[in-house]
Amino acid sequence: MISPVLPSYNRSKLSFVKGEGSWMIEADGRRFLDFGSGIAVMALGHGHPALVRALTEQAGKLWHTSNLYTVPEQEALASRLVEHTFADTVFFCNSGTEATELAVKMARKYWYESGAPERTTILTFEGAFHGRSIAAISAAGSEKLTKGFGPLLPGFRQLPFGDHDALREAARDPSVGAIMVEPLQGEGGIRLLPDVCLKGLRDLCDEHGHLLILDEIQCGVGRTGRLFAHEWAGIAPDIMMVAKGIGGGYPIGALLATENAAKGMTAGTHGSTYGGNPLGCAVGAAVMDEITRDGFLEEVRAKSGFLRQKLEGLVAAHPDVFEGVRGAGLMLGLKCKAPNTDIVAAGYDAQVLTVPAAENVLRILPALTITEDEIAEGVARLDTAAVAVSRKIAAA
Ligand SMILES: Cc1ncc(COP(=O)(O)O)c(C=O)c1O
Repeated sequence: MISPVLPSYNRSKLSFVKGEGSWMIEADGRRFLDFGSGIAVMALGHGHPALVRALTEQAGKLWHTSNLYTVPEQEALASRLVEHTFADTVFFCNSGTEATELAVKMARKYWYESGAPERTTILTFEGAFHGRSIAAISAAGSEKLTKGFGPLLPGFRQLPFGDHDALREAARDPSVGAIMVEPLQGEGGIRLLPDVCLKGLRDLCDEHGHLLILDEIQCGVGRTGRLFAHEWAGIAPDIMMVAKGIGGGYPIGALLATENAAKGMTAGTHGSTYGGNPLGCAVGAAVMDEITRDGFLEEVRAKSGFLRQKLEGLVAAHPDVFEGVRGAGLMLGLKCKAPNTDIVAAGYDAQVLTVPAAENVLRILPALTITEDEIAEGVARLDTAAVAVSRKIAAA
């Protein structure tokens, strides 16, 4: 018999009743070191006092008004995002997938308004993940996401990751209007687009007039040690999707754009009942205040160096289990030799939470507020997990 909750997830039996910083706690009091942050959502950890304050203060004032009216909390968060990024304007939604939807609509409308409505093709990359709507799975194109859900949305062409010739050739196609890419793939296995490639993509877009759409839903909001990952390459996109970390656990998404890219999005062209809700925007503004305060991102970079060094040590100690470390900032991946899901499960026994990804990679996505002691503790627990997996391999 089907369960009351649609069985669309492979769930573990673990269940948590409380979160404190980098720790998640079960009903029986067992404490787990959180190296997953709810898949890069809990940027400031669990129960951050500034976020609790922002949410409860707003909850005591006003929960929802509708986008029929001016929402000051939305304006405050949008102003912070505009001030700190390339963007001139922001649309708020409730998830990453919704931000992807608008990115696709915005690109199509841009070309419609520019007198070239035929430029509907968006180039994307194999291994990408942009969400679960029909547009988002059509963009990613992988069989894993799309099988059984056809007909898919036309207007996307997936290119092999890292094939520059194929990309240059595809970019010449007159039906192309945009290129969409994650600067650092998360679900795809912590695959980093090198800075020179991101620069090359920007140049290619400029050469052909294509819009550059960056998906920073997982890698944005301080995760790589800069506010947004593309800043490392010294370039700016035309459109960018943001979600996860910006809400610090409150479900919000945002689509950031230049004035030019957004020129078609006039009144009545897009909307959302809950998007830009005062509760979410109040929390988002508190997240932005914390991440953009002096020294915060320097600390993230220092912690990244420490975590990376610890993980290199772990790999060296368990060459039968792990192959190497990849990624950037506090979005790191352990390329595994043993099945990554076995290591995640052994991590549960050792009370450390990690997240599997494609390419047999184990994702390490701690809260940006994690301490060095907690990093050391988490890696020690991963060591315990690796010993258990090693024994299993030896016994097989
Ligand atoms: C890069 C990327 N894009 C899009 C999404 C979809 O976001 P959401 O699950 O909030 O709809 C995700 C979620 O994991 C993601 O990592």
